Amino acid sequence: MESPFEGKLIRLRAREPEDEPLLYQWFNDPEVTENLTMRYPLSHRDEREFIERVSHISYEHPSFAVETLADRRLIGGCGLERVSPENRSAVLGIALGDKAYWNGGYGTDTMRTLCRFGFAMMNLHRIELDVYAGNERARHVYEKIGFTEEGRRREAVYKYGRYQDVVVMGLLEGELRPEG
Ligand SMILES: CC(C)(COP(=O)(O)OP(=O)(O)OC[C@H]1O[C@@H](n2cnc3c(N)ncnc32)[C@H](O)[C@@H]1OP(=O)(O)O)[C@@H](O)C(=O)NCCC(=O)NCCS
Repeated sequence: MESPFEGKLIRLRAREPEDEPLLYQWFNDPEVTENLTMRYPLSHRDEREFIERVSHISYEHPSFAVETLADRRLIGGCGLERVSPENRSAVLGIALGDKAYWNGGYGTDTMRTLCRFGFAMMNLHRIELDVYAGNERARHVYEKIGFTEEGRRREAVYKYGRYQDVVVMGLLEGELRPEG
């Protein structure tokens, strides 16, 4: 039986207090947060409180640390939020904070693993996400694994002195594309 937490390259695990220094480093790095909602500096206390809040994983709060399968190195985080039992839907978020692992297939594998978890373990019907229109890499990954662009919120985000559209994407049960 395949592990519901493991992909080909990564494993999802609960967050731990020891993760704090890396989270502090990543989420104060403008290159990492460029396409995320964060825009203000974060304190160690913010990160500790975040970990405290999300480290107990439940149906309402499935939030994970992402580590490499090969050497158990923490490289990022992902999760589902706004889980609705009535609609069987949730909103997905992902950020690989370790830039050395960008473009190495880890994000694609994390997305597949998290979506598989949502469908197979939480009985979700729909997973949706927001992505900034300029985040070409992320949009490519989402489309590759089966997400469909469903609409745009025009000029919904203002960062770095300009507005950009936010693209809404969705993936229904049965639409997750396997590797290959
Ligand atoms: C977005 C993110 C999750 C992608 O993960 P990743 O491990 O870097 O991506 P992968 O290596 O799995 O895949 C990257 C794909 O995008 C392609 N790509 C890279 N740059 C691209 C660009 N500028 N335009 C289009 N495609 C691009 C790669 O060629 C690759 O496609 P392929 O597998 O078909 O060859 C990760 O880079 C990340 O967390 N970035 C910072 C935070 C962020 O943007 N989060 C998403 C917010 S919605």
